[in-house]
Amino acid sequence: MTRYAHITGWGMAVPEKVLTNNDIAHMVDTTDEWITSRTGIRERRIAAPDQSSATLATDAALEALEMASIKPGDVDLIIVATSSPEYLFPATACVVQDNIGAKKAGAFDLSAACSGFIYALNMAAQAIQSGAIDNALVIGAETLSRFTNWQDRNTCILFGDGAGAFVLQMSYEEGGVLSAVMRSDGSGGSSLYLPAGGSRHPATADTVAQGLHYIQMNGREVFRFATRVMTQATQEAIANAKLKLEDIALIIPHQANQRIIEAAARGLDFPMEKVVLNVDRYGNTSTASIPIATCEAFNDGRLQPGDKIVFVGFGAGLTWGAAVAQWTGPVAVRRKLYLPLSYRAWAKARSILRRLMRRLEGLIWGRYL
Ligand code: ACO
Repeated sequence: MTRYAHITGWGMAVPEKVLTNNDIAHMVDTTDEWITSRTGIRERRIAAPDQSSATLATDAALEALEMASIKPGDVDLIIVATSSPEYLFPATACVVQDNIGAKKAGAFDLSAACSGFIYALNMAAQAIQSGAIDNALVIGAETLSRFTNWQDRNTCILFGDGAGAFVLQMSYEEGGVLSAVMRSDGSGGSSLYLPAGGSRHPATADTVAQGLHYIQMNGREVFRFATRVMTQATQEAIANAKLKLEDIALIIPHQANQRIIEAAARGLDFPMEKVVLNVDRYGNTSTASIPIATCEAFNDGRLQPGDKIVFVGFGAGLTWGAAVAQWTGPVAVRRKLYLPLSYRAWAKARSILRRLMRRLEGLIWGRYL
């Protein structure tokens, strides 16, 4: 029998702190009008000192598990797509695995910048479809504010923090992830990169002094590349799913820039009313933007069971990709089955305790070193 990978749960977590364009205009030479007209961004969320990619990922994952009505112990695989991991190693996915108590799960991070969530979705779906696993957690989590040069107006206006998660579950019912394309062009790597901190340029006093631990970007080049590949990838993924553009109910694109999204929709001749846009409120949350936009589309009643949808994105690498999925809807609602949620309360309490410990650790280091 054919195995399908259905999206049965989704969740998101964003920091409370809002940074508006006007706030940024007090930090660098820019205006709300410039940022809004060039990007569509009005505000973004910034992580508190005790929040990190792993804490946001954990919160989003717990919400997604609750929606899917499965316990952490049933998860076989956790993939965290991120460009701002907790550490170089171990993987942020392992921190999440421990935070939620997913005792039998394998866990790894996936680095494909903003395309990472689509890559991770495809990898998890393939693992389910092949019979290797039954349940997966796919997470996009970022705290890019920690790698942003707040004196560089070319980049600091763009990024925001947040996380989003999907639960994928095996079913013999047709649906779920139907197709995906993943592409890359490493020759464009220097258009958008974080030069130091890896094995090429390990951290030294010099690399810090030169600001090489911050995101560097050629905005115009990335813009040109993005508008070209978003259209191409969408068309390819739809063709691979043996569908036509008319079959697509909603496109959920990576939220980098409203003008890029509008240009892609124009290139496809696809109505903007059927494209999800929330870049105005969160900025570019990289790998987290697609699952966050999906959560909001669901909450706004824009996703109905059976809908065929496209996820499409691009990012550093350069990388790009798209996936077509048939929307399943929440399992808890479909089965009218609500499992006890005590594991969530327990995991939340653990996560709060860990944050307190980290704060304490910070205080001790600050005091004695
Ligand atoms: N405020 C005011 N002026 C600014 C600002 C700012 N915040 N930033 C740049 N400018 C100036 C520039 O210095 C330039 O001045 P100059 O002509 O005197 O040199 C002028 O505005 C125009 O600059 P451009 O770079 O041509 O502006 P553009 O219209 O291309 O918009 C932007 C810049 C918003 C960065 C756009 O190019 C863009 O969105 N590119 C894509 C970036 C992106 O999506 N990156 C994320 C990829 S996903 C990932 O992997 C993380």
